[in-house]
Amino acid sequence: MRLKRKDLLGIEELDTAELEQILSTAASFKEVSAREIKKVPTLRGKTVINLFYEPSTRTRTSFEIAAKRMSADAVNISVSTSSVVKGETIKDTAKNLEAMKPDCIVIRHSSAGTPQMLARYVGCSVVNAGDGAHEHPSQALLDMMTVKEKKGKIAGLKVSIIGDIAHSRVARSNIYGFTKLGADVTVCGPPTMIPPGMDRLGCKVTTSMESALKDADVIMMLRIQLERQKESFFPTVREYSRIYGLDETKLKRAKDDVIILHPGPVNRGVEISSELADGPYSLILDQVTNGVAVRMAIFYLLLGGTREEAQ
Ligand code: CP
Repeated sequence: MRLKRKDLLGIEELDTAELEQILSTAASFKEVSAREIKKVPTLRGKTVINLFYEPSTRTRTSFEIAAKRMSADAVNISVSTSSVVKGETIKDTAKNLEAMKPDCIVIRHSSAGTPQMLARYVGCSVVNAGDGAHEHPSQALLDMMTVKEKKGKIAGLKVSIIGDIAHSRVARSNIYGFTKLGADVTVCGPPTMIPPGMDRLGCKVTTSMESALKDADVIMMLRIQLERQKESFFPTVREYSRIYGLDETKLKRAKDDVIILHPGPVNRGVEISSELADGPYSLILDQVTNGVAVRMAIFYLLLGGTREEAQ
């Protein structure tokens, strides 16, 4: 069954049933990537355009792979070699892309609200692949999938999201998602990196690493996004790392079966030590694997087809 919406723009607008629907569909698609022939005919004849105005490794590649594994045609637009550099507006770009009859445009942009604006201009589906510091819904979905897969549930878990909360679309989408599914979410970072009013999103807020890590089931470390910072939010990277970087010593405060997530790319030795990023508690690469399944589910639930065709 399709989602009851044309676009996937954020986790905030999804209800619990829709979240569960995407997660269970993603779980059912995961085995396709383990097959020798990694392809199902479900979206044959559909066209997906990836329009990324910001750099990406994981998100862009996995949206492309997801489309191809569903037999859709995927086209990647490199903004640096497109008419955007000649000053073409988002609206004109959208209308011209729409004239080529795609079924879905996946967009990443540095300005919050751009996917929402694009969705009003075009009749095809629009998927938000990250808009400024606003939302990154497919990332949160793959994070929820990874936790559910490993822990068997989300409700009741203590999920601590640590780092640069202010600049993080990943944090925002995950706060919406995990709280809707019943987790106990805490955000933690330096006071300068936690915007006022975060508690109104339904999470606890602390500047104390000790309190965030105590009895945590899930630790999500965030990348320090130096590219989004117009001023300095902490004295030095070394100082930040000493207080808010995750290492073996600090990890002892969490539960014995804690899992560690990170959306990537990782600043090794800054927000997390290499030992932990590559160690047994880390699910960083499982997140990337699940990203393909989640994006297959998103395409399937927006663009249609029946699940039987995927067999
Ligand atoms: N997690 C994430 O959005 O990574 P990319 O920037 O590489 O897409």
